Amino acid sequence: MKTKQFYVVVAILFAVCVLVIHHHMAYIWPTYNGHVDTMGHVATMGHVAPISHGVSNIQPTTDVKKAPLRHSVSSIQPTTSRKTVSHFKDVPDMTLTVRMSSNVASLLNFFFCTMLRSLTLYWSGQLGNLALILDKESQEDHKFAENLQKYQEHLGINMSFDYEPLPNNKRVLTVVKGKSRGYNRQLYSSFFMDKFISTPVVAWIDTDGKFTTPVTRDNILNGNKLRVKGMNTFQNNWIQGWDKLGKKMIGKPMPSDFMTFFPVYIWRDTITNCRNHILKYVNVSTIEEAYIQVGIQDTGIMSPVNIIMTYAYYFEKERYDWHIDIRNVDLQKYNKLHLIPGHELTSSDLTPDFHVTLHDKYYKDDKNIVNRQAYCAAVNNTVLNMEQNIKQMCEPFKTNEMWLLFEFCNTIKQEHLTTWCKNKNKHCSSMIKEHYDKTRQLVNKGVYNLDLKKVKVVEEAAKFHNVKCQPFL
Ligand SMILES: *[C@@H]1O[C@H](CO)[C@@H](O)[C@H](O)[C@H]1NC(C)=O
Ligand SMILES: *[C@@H]1O[C@H](CO)[C@@H](O)[C@H](O)[C@H]1NC(C)=O
Ligand SMILES: *[C@@H]1O[C@H](CO)[C@@H](O)[C@H](O)[C@H]1NC(C)=O
Repeated sequence: MKTKQFYVVVAILFAVCVLVIHHHMAYIWPTYNGHVDTMGHVATMGHVAPISHGVSNIQPTTDVKKAPLRHSVSSIQPTTSRKTVSHFKDVPDMTLTVRMSSNVASLLNFFFCTMLRSLTLYWSGQLGNLALILDKESQEDHKFAENLQKYQEHLGINMSFDYEPLPNNKRVLTVVKGKSRGYNRQLYSSFFMDKFISTPVVAWIDTDGKFTTPVTRDNILNGNKLRVKGMNTFQNNWIQGWDKLGKKMIGKPMPSDFMTFFPVYIWRDTITNCRNHILKYVNVSTIEEAYIQVGIQDTGIMSPVNIIMTYAYYFEKERYDWHIDIRNVDLQKYNKLHLIPGHELTSSDLTPDFHVTLHDKYYKDDKNIVNRQAYCAAVNNTVLNMEQNIKQMCEPFKTNEMWLLFEFCNTIKQEHLTTWCKNKNKHCSSMIKEHYDKTRQLVNKGVYNLDLKKVKVVEEAAKFHNVKCQPFL
């Protein structure tokens, strides 16, 4: 009897010890992952004042000196490899992929002020690196990469730079009429993303994509299928052009417009398979030949990402999770108009989904509401301590629901508020709520630190190219 009691007491004591130690470890853990050596300074910026510490510091130059080191250490997002971090353990490796060129001022502006500033807040480096595919022969592009690389640690995202040579046959650059050589080169390049990206998933985004919310696992995957969004935008004449040339490349009609969301998550080998299919279908030995042969036939335009996703629809449908908004058109009628027998859309392909980005070039936001609304929603009810001015800024948004997540463009009609979410219905409303329950957990765990000083770092990086961004908030 006595010995039994003794063992029970020992067991209880042991359990209490384990709990205490575990709690203590959890408390000090951030200091292990932080970068003690940087002390919050951006070493490569020379003249720049040390970056401020903690989420609450919006004005980095004001009280930097006073900020205790402890804060700076824990405020930089851990850059441990995703594999060792549990939050996205079951998400396949992916690369956020951008094809751009630093020679075009407007692209640079979008890249820094729109894409990179928002991505540094809302895309976790644990999800995947950022890859930029650049022009091989461009000195500027190499300098651009060199400058940018210096900031990756402070932005909490690793970057890689790939250099693509000019196509052998320069007709690729001019065959599609009405677009610049650079634009055509970028388009053409999309057929080869798998040659530059080695992760199983390519998360493709334009330079003018703007993140509007932290990205969660469920925004990317449903089970083990990659999420795809599409929309019925066939009323636009350019979509008909894309459809026409797409049919000539792969022999199938576009089931919907897939240029209506970012990032477009593509299994890397879907791109390879699509390319092989094109070669067979067009009966040529290179994509250059196919591109020229098809491009020449028409005044139409080409949308490679639509071609790739259309290929995925017809040949690899089971690997993706489809969310097509056919707008207020009857499904049977839609199928008759746009699909081929045996490949019709079913009602399970039409379920609502929301956006984590919008297309900035086509989104008018003169009063800069989007960033504020997005930020306020992301910090809402989290453990983060907001500085007074942020609290004030968020006051008007306090009861705001993020219906913005159901918009993509507003200067052209790409939204779901008049279709899936008509009358701001309960179903969509609960999707928003569920999403923010998930982002709140990620923020509270430190996966997203929503640290605005990273936005300042992007603005510093942009100065190198004389790009001056409008205030973020
Ligand atoms: C970034 O790269 C460094 C060096 O290769 C690595 O130690 C770190 O884990 C990476 N960070 C992320 C977020 O992948
Ligand atoms: C494909 O091209 C080859 C050579 O260019 C030609 O001999 C062959 O007949 C073509 N096949 C079809 C199905 O058009
Ligand atoms: C903040 O959270 C509350 C409760 O979850 C919600 O009602 C409100 O709409 C949220 N505010 C913003 C700005 O998202």
